[in-house]
Formats: sequence, C-alpha cells, structure tokens
Amino acid sequence: MKRAGEDASGGAHFPRLLVVLHGPNLNLLGERPAEHYGTLTLPELESLVAHEARRLGWDCLCFQTNHEGVYIDYIHEYRNAGALLVNPGAWTHYSYAIHDALELVRCPVAEVHLSEVSKRESWRRHSVITPVATFVVSGKGAEGYLEAVRRLISLAEMRPRGD
Ligand code: DQA
Repeated sequence: MKRAGEDASGGAHFPRLLVVLHGPNLNLLGERPAEHYGTLTLPELESLVAHEARRLGWDCLCFQTNHEGVYIDYIHEYRNAGALLVNPGAWTHYSYAIHDALELVRCPVAEVHLSEVSKRESWRRHSVITPVATFVVSGKGAEGYLEAVRRLISLAEMRPRGD
C-alpha cells in the first residue's frame, strides 16, 4: 500500500530538498592542488551551497564518502529528493555503477566539477555520468556550485506537481 510521502515503489519523497553528494578525495579539499580545486575546504564549500539553497527556500543535505557502494546507497535513498548535485570525483570517469544508480533518479541532477575536466589529462575528459545528468557545470570552482544550485531549483520548481 502506498503511504503518505512515498511513491508506488516505497521510496520516500523529499520535495524542496537539495542533496549534495561528494565522492573520493573531496574530503581533502583545501589540501588538493589549488590550481585545480581552489582553496576552500569541503565544509566551507558545503556551507556556501547550503546557504544558497536556503536563500531560495530549500533545505540542503550534504554527504561525502570515499566508498563507491556508500555513494550508491545515498543515491538510492535520495532518488526522490527535489534535486541532486553530484561531484563523483574520479568515479566520474569510469563508474558505470554510479551511472546506473543515477538513471533511477526522478529529479534534476547536476554533475559539477571544480576543475575544467575537459582541459586536463585525457582520461578525465570522458564522463560516464554526463548521459544521466540534466546538466554539467565544470571549471567554475565554487561559483559553479552556486550556479548549479540556482539552475537545479529553478528546473525543479518548473516541474508539474507529482512529477
Ligand atoms: C573533480 C575532477 C575529477 O577528475 C577528480 O578526480 C576529482 C575532482 C573536480 O571537481 O574537478 O576528484 O571531480
């Protein structure tokens, strides 16, 4: 039986919730090469993102993990969030498991990279996530995250109720 707040498959709905998922090594932002990733720490970046979401009337939850299965569990748990912002780090370039998990997500998904991945090593130029992302923002540092938050929320708010 379908319960309040659940869809037919039993997944909980979290409208007006932005979920931000950071992958491996991003917990060490602030120590990673500043020419690619800037100088902000992850808590500083998350707090900017959460502030922008709240300014627009949304809640925000941020998670980081170095474990691919845990990352996939977060995607499953929040597949019915209002919007998802993902930076899967190096998994971006080869994780078909994360690709497949994101395929199940109902809400708009932003793939965000601090660095300009298209201008770095050849192995970074390919993303297996892009085909299942609603849009990609790359190479704009923290400002790119704020742009993604605004675009996600405006897309989510344009969707008809119940979609
Ligand atoms: C990254 C780019 C990836 O290639 C890299 O492995 C990261 C971070 C970025 O934000 O620029 O860990 O996703």
